[in-house]
Amino acid sequence: MKNLKIDLNERSYDILISRNILSKVGEFILNILEPSRIIIITHPSLRKLFGDEIESGLVNVGYSPNVIEIPEGETSKSLRQVELVYDRMLEMKCDRKSLLIALGGGVVGDLTGFTAATFQRGISFIQIPTTLLSQVDSSVGGKTAVNHPRGKNMIGAFYQPKLVVIDLNTLSTLPKNQLRGGLSEVVKYGVIADEKLFVFLENNIQNILSLDIKCLEYIVKTSCAIKARIVEKDERESKYRMILNFGHTFGHAIETLTNYTEYLHGEAISIGMVQAALLSVESGLCNKDLPKRITNLLKAFGLPIQAHDLKSKDIIESMRHDKKNSHNKLRFVLPKSIGSIEIIDDVRETLIQSVLDNSKLI
Ligand code: GLY
Repeated sequence: MKNLKIDLNERSYDILISRNILSKVGEFILNILEPSRIIIITHPSLRKLFGDEIESGLVNVGYSPNVIEIPEGETSKSLRQVELVYDRMLEMKCDRKSLLIALGGGVVGDLTGFTAATFQRGISFIQIPTTLLSQVDSSVGGKTAVNHPRGKNMIGAFYQPKLVVIDLNTLSTLPKNQLRGGLSEVVKYGVIADEKLFVFLENNIQNILSLDIKCLEYIVKTSCAIKARIVEKDERESKYRMILNFGHTFGHAIETLTNYTEYLHGEAISIGMVQAALLSVESGLCNKDLPKRITNLLKAFGLPIQAHDLKSKDIIESMRHDKKNSHNKLRFVLPKSIGSIEIIDDVRETLIQSVLDNSKLI
């Protein structure tokens, strides 16, 4: 088992990465906590796949877990859904010592984290991410949120889990497009922090797509370790943590303009990374080989590299409204080489315009 630690003083926790460990979750919990009650929050389909293994492990260590099922899809990330979960928790007589387990992808993790952060002023929760995207990104680092009709992740809190348990077996039932979506974030880690990871991805495309377990273990562990080191330096995103947003400035605009229906998050980020790399060339930070290398890798994973039918002016307008931009400045994370990036404020709009117009040509 790979055991990583994220060091945040009294909010520190472990990230356990292995196979066949869902039945041991009860033991892992008892090593660090003594909850009065355990509630699993998940989707019905995930309960069918993994519920028995987790629940029987919890029963073996003396708990009778309750399960709260929430509907699949981004619409569950709402204050209304949180309220429904609070209702169930109060019916179940949950108290401040109750523990929530988020079993699922980003929607379940973000909703459960936010519920844990706010129920009776904050209770413990652990993450059991079941998608590649949530394993390498959203389950680690303590960003929790729900959406507001006026914007994604508008209501939330920084609230760290007590433990993250990643069972790589969960990836074997993951739809292929979701696997690709997660790989986009793994490519991101290579570009922002680790050339060795990037080269590994370039050399192992087929092995990764066919879920070779050693490859998966390496990319998940390396990605989580990179994220952990970044979050340790800047837990609440005063600036440095923003390097995790490489590709996200363009990517969020693409998601917003297509109403979150055309592209998965990772797909929009894939396009956004290509555009950011092109902007880096325009800004004189790198040469043309860099966007080419990033584009080739993303394409090899079957990820999109350009958005069709979106107008440059709409993309720029949407970026201006993104909550990640401060003081009305457009902030970009731009690569200088593989493994090295820079955060640039106030990029000239003419440069962005030119990248958006020319990216249709690649
Ligand atoms: N997903 C970006 C972050 O956790 O900061």
